[in-house]
Amino acid sequence: MDRRKFIKAGCISCVSVSLLSTLVQSCKSVKYVSGNMEANGISVSLKDFETKNGQRPYVIVQHPDMQYPICVYNTGNNNYSALLMRCTHQGAELQVSGDQLTCPAHGSAFDKYGKVLQSPAAENLRTFPVSVAEQSLLIDLRKKS
Ligand code: FES
Repeated sequence: MDRRKFIKAGCISCVSVSLLSTLVQSCKSVKYVSGNMEANGISVSLKDFETKNGQRPYVIVQHPDMQYPICVYNTGNNNYSALLMRCTHQGAELQVSGDQLTCPAHGSAFDKYGKVLQSPAAENLRTFPVSVAEQSLLIDLRKKS
């Protein structure tokens, strides 16, 4: 193998390892939880936000009765933001990436409060009121917050 091929093969290997590591870390940090459907909404345990080293920034709540999951961000000081993970452009399911939700269909992006950061979406995400009761959160599905 000549020098040029050796360097090229080495670079491809390094990039591959780096990408794989990033993918594994991002998958590892996402927490999916099954909420409990109640009369006024869906509840999740506050323990779902706990990690060995602190608090998760968000969890994704799923339930068979919901077409789209809800991303619940811990915004600090016992406050939470619950966002329907449905893009307001054409309805694709959003993906969470740190403090943003992004749309794989056409690239719209939203912040952790549901505000549009990047078009083509023009409307903010649907949000829900969240109340904290003892060791759980209730996401009120009856109305927008
Ligand atoms: S459906 Fe999300 S940007 Fe088009």
